[in-house]
Amino acid sequence: MKNLETYLARRQKAVNEALDRILADCVPGGRLFSAMRHSLKAGGKRLRPILCMAAAEAVGGTWEDALFPGCAIELIHTYSLVHDDLPAIDNDPLRRGQPACHAAFDEATAIFAGDALHTLAFEVLSSDRYIFFQGKRRLALIHLISRATGNHGMIEGQMRDILAQGGNLGLDQLKELHRLKTGALITASVHAGALTGKATVRQTGKLIEYAENIGLAFQVADDLLNVEGDPLLTGKSIGTDHVLGKATFPNLMGIDASRKFAAQLVEKSLQAIESLGIKANPLRAVAKYVIERKL
Ligand code: IPE
Ligand code: IPE
Ligand code: MG
Ligand code: MG
Repeated sequence: MKNLETYLARRQKAVNEALDRILADCVPGGRLFSAMRHSLKAGGKRLRPILCMAAAEAVGGTWEDALFPGCAIELIHTYSLVHDDLPAIDNDPLRRGQPACHAAFDEATAIFAGDALHTLAFEVLSSDRYIFFQGKRRLALIHLISRATGNHGMIEGQMRDILAQGGNLGLDQLKELHRLKTGALITASVHAGALTGKATVRQTGKLIEYAENIGLAFQVADDLLNVEGDPLLTGKSIGTDHVLGKATFPNLMGIDASRKFAAQLVEKSLQAIESLGIKANPLRAVAKYVIERKL
């Protein structure tokens, strides 16, 4: 893809406008709403909705149909970041270049804002205002997203991340942790797009394989950015994984091997979608971006 930056900027704009529409349907004013908006509008790459839309397009669907399913996932992702930054979890005061929610407001408000963003996602997914298909397909969408979010996915990964602090994880355990913590929601984003675009079973399988590989690559890149990133670009603190004794790829494999591993994963993701033709070019460009990104 020639101009990835323009593509990402256009899609980010569409996501931000759609999130504004969702916020406009919330109860405005008040501390809870302000905290939700603070975290949702603080920036963010909007990678998950972009993947959702690109997956729909890759199988002949429209990005517009996948916009709100993708936004629902962005709401879940944002809630997870609000809680991830809390003193009881990563104790991180900076997020998306702004004070983290608990730093801008207070802990109780951040817990509530996270809770409210989480449930808002399912309000969106179950509303005819936002999702343009009903019946079994809608239920399948809600099911796959909820499964990726909780005990089968992201939150189990978060639990393992905390339990692993200061301990010794093997490489396989670390991969499994990341598959749950970050990979599950990234895979759900692509899967949701495939479902929205009416992918065949075979196409869905290919897209999931693509997503599982970039999901892991994404977290390897996140670990690398925590070591060598620029906080002015990432908008979050660096060096924190080391301070907290987190299990990370750079810790376990070293920096160079982590970089190589991430590149191999991206290569595998590209192979998985080889048969999908030029409509999958945005997915290909995003796969490369995942490890080249500086933010
Ligand atoms: C950061 O995710 C947290 C992880 C799951 C590694 P992103 O890097 O996608 O964060 P934003 O949405 O751009 O802020
Ligand atoms: C955040 O993971 C992942 C989730 C919130 C599920 P990290 O703690 O590794 O990510 P950052 O570095 O704070 O964004
Ligand atoms: Mg964390
Ligand atoms: Mg964190």
